[in-house]
Amino acid sequence: MQQEMTPDNDGPPVREAAAPAATRVRLRADLRAALPDAAAAVGVTAAVFAFLWSRVASGDSATVAVMPFMDDPATYWMYLLSQAFGWSGLLWAWGTVMLGLLLSGRLTGRLAASRAALERWHRTTSLTTMALMFAHALMFAAELVRYEAGLGWAERLWGGFADAFVPGWYDSGTGELAIPIGLGALYLAVPLGLLFYVRHRIGPATWRRLHRCVIVVYVLSVWHTLLYGTNVWYGEWPRTVLWLLQLPVAVLLLARLWRPARRSERLGAPRRTGALAWALRGAGRVVAAAVVVGLVAVVVSGHDGGRERPKPQPPSSAPDDHHDPE
Ligand code: HEM
Repeated sequence: MQQEMTPDNDGPPVREAAAPAATRVRLRADLRAALPDAAAAVGVTAAVFAFLWSRVASGDSATVAVMPFMDDPATYWMYLLSQAFGWSGLLWAWGTVMLGLLLSGRLTGRLAASRAALERWHRTTSLTTMALMFAHALMFAAELVRYEAGLGWAERLWGGFADAFVPGWYDSGTGELAIPIGLGALYLAVPLGLLFYVRHRIGPATWRRLHRCVIVVYVLSVWHTLLYGTNVWYGEWPRTVLWLLQLPVAVLLLARLWRPARRSERLGAPRRTGALAWALRGAGRVVAAAVVVGLVAVVVSGHDGGRERPKPQPPSSAPDDHHDPE
């Protein structure tokens, strides 16, 4: 039977047999367990949707400042809902990454919740995150289908699907880059998240090595948002908050790399680890420290890539470049 190293927070790692089939965590059970979490995510999405709607109605919306034709929330409600799913997706991605970093570092012993509870929560929030990412892209596709009312159904459906789900299909402005980045996040999140449920087949060590790459999903999601989110388009408080939220993630990543729970992942001496592995581990720690310093510099200096909001202009009625802020 496959052996698995599991972390013992205070002492040396213990060697543990992979779970027998009867006690193995099943996807179906986790999907059921994720229901309360998913219900909370729907509630948060509804609140964000109401907030975005009210900002459009009051004339304060940054989205409308970027795309003045979107000044009617009742017409563009699917776009607003897509944005709302984007925000809940990002929030849940933040939460599940924080939980994952807590679990793989040496902090869990100091927390009120048990390790098992945190693990369960990490799994259910990651399932919810995938669903929210998908709903975000789906509502964007639905809005594109709605908008192209002049075309036949087959063309509308295919166009909406391809623009939202086929990397490289959307060919206008910032979306040319931002949409493939978002799709990269979605398409990586699914296998990297779901491989957990077949780890008895691929081996726990392989699974762990692959699952570590999930941080890339998070980085792509944040990059996509900073690049494309019209509500964080301008150098105003929402963009600052988005940058600030990355600080705890970077600090936890740094802590996880400096003090990993698994003894086998500690830096050690180059002679024992092997020169290449030692150099890679060292470089990872230096990069994480540089990211923390960089984030502090962005927030303190205010150089966050945000633009200046233009003076309000009369709304245009016929958008030439729909759904693209540039
Ligand atoms: C799967 C492919 C994806 C597509 C087609 C897509 C599409 C879009 C579009 C068109 C926008 C611009 C909305 C605006 O005007 O602000 C946007 C923004 C955004 N996206 Fe995505 N996205 C994708 C993936 C993701 C992922 C994986 C996340 C994070 C979990 C995400 C989170 C966001 C957020 C938070 C915004 C900002 C919305 C706002 O400004 O209010 N997106 N996305």
